[in-house]
Amino acid sequence: MSQFIDQFQRKFEYLRLSVTDVCNFKCTYCLPDGYHREHKKQFLSLAEISNLVQSFAQLGTKKVRITGGEPSLRRDFTGIIETVKNTQGIEKVATTTNGFRMAKSVADWKKAGLDAINVSIDSLDANMFYQITGENLLTKVMAGIDAAFAAGFSQVKVNTVLMKGLNAHELQTFLAWIKPRNIQLRFIELMQTGDNHALFQAHHVPGSVIMKQLIAQGWVEKVRQATDGPARVFCHPDYSGEVGLIMPYEAHFCDNCNRLRVSSTGRLHLCLFGEQGTDLRDLLQGPEQNEALQQRLISQLKTKRASHFLQQGDLGGTTHFAAIGG
Ligand code: GTP
Ligand code: 5AD
Ligand code: SF4
Repeated sequence: MSQFIDQFQRKFEYLRLSVTDVCNFKCTYCLPDGYHREHKKQFLSLAEISNLVQSFAQLGTKKVRITGGEPSLRRDFTGIIETVKNTQGIEKVATTTNGFRMAKSVADWKKAGLDAINVSIDSLDANMFYQITGENLLTKVMAGIDAAFAAGFSQVKVNTVLMKGLNAHELQTFLAWIKPRNIQLRFIELMQTGDNHALFQAHHVPGSVIMKQLIAQGWVEKVRQATDGPARVFCHPDYSGEVGLIMPYEAHFCDNCNRLRVSSTGRLHLCLFGEQGTDLRDLLQGPEQNEALQQRLISQLKTKRASHFLQQGDLGGTTHFAAIGG
C-alpha cells in the first residue's frame, strides 16, 4: 500500500534519483558553459542510496529513475543499478542518459537489472547535434541506441527539445526515423530555468504547435493509464514508434504528477521548479534511521503544492536541470 499520497490524492510511486550533477555535455538550454564545480560536492554513496531507496520502497515506491547530470559518469553506475534493482518492492529501474557511454556499457547495465532507458537526442544532423550539445557524438549515441536494442531492450525512449531556428525543422526527419523503430520519441517543450532566459525567449516552441502538426498527419492520442506521468502519448498505424509530448506549460499538466525527486547530495525536491528542497542526508547513514527518514518524507509530502504555479516566462527557482535531474 502506498503511503505516498498527497493532499490532492496524487500517488507517488516513482522516484527520480540524481546520482551526480556532473555532465560532460554542454546543452545550450542546460549547461551552455559546461559543468563548473563551484564547491566540492560529495555525491550520495552506494550505502546512502541503498538506505534511501529502501525507505522509499517501504512507502510504496515501485519505480526508480537514475538521473544526473550524466549518471553514467559515476564509476559505480552499474553497482547503483544493481543495488536499486535488488531493493525489495522496486519493480522497475530506469535511467535517463545523454547516451555517450551506451554503446560500450548498455549490455552491462541491462545485466545489472536496468529495465528502461531514455536517451537525449536533440538533432539527427551531426552539425546541429554539435551546436546544441557542444559534443561531436551523434554517431556514438546512435550506436548506443542500436546497442540497447541488441542488449534486449524492446523499446527505447528518446528525449528531444525542439527549438525554433535551431532543430525545429527536423520534426519530419525525427518522425521518419521512428517509423520502423520501436522508439517512443518525446518532444519536451523547452522550459525556462534560471540560466536560460535569453535562449528561451528566442527559441521556445509551444508543445501545442507540435501536437497540431501530429494530429494533421494522422497521429492519435492514446488513452491514458492511471500510472502514466505527464507525457501525452500519440500513435499512428503506419509507425512502429510512438510520440510523447511533454508540455509543462499546459493547464493541468501537474494534475498527473507521479514523481518525487532526490538530488545527488540527498535533498528531497517535491517539484522540478520553485523550491529549494529538504536535506535528507542526516537520515541516510544507516538502516536504523529508515523509520525517521520515512516520517520526514511523509511530513514533507504534505507540503507539496498542486502545481508549479509558475507562468510561462517565469520559471524561476531552478537554475538548470543538471542540478536536479530533470
Ligand atoms: P518515463 O519515466 O519514461 O515516463 O519518463 P520521464 O518523462 O519521467 O523521464 P525523463 O527523464 O526522460 O524525463 C524527460 C523530461 O521531461 C525531464 O527531464 C523533464 O525535462 C521533463 N519532465 C519530467 N517530469 C517532469 C515534471 O514533473 N515536471 C516538468 N515540468 N517536467 C518534467
Ligand atoms: N527544457 C526542457 N528540457 C530540458 N532538459 C534539460 N533541460 C531542459 C530544459 N530547460 C531535458 C534534456 C534531457 C532531460 C533529462 O531533460 O533534454 O532529455
Ligand atoms: Fe548534460 Fe542532460 Fe544537461 Fe545536456 S541536458 S548538459 S546531457 S545534464
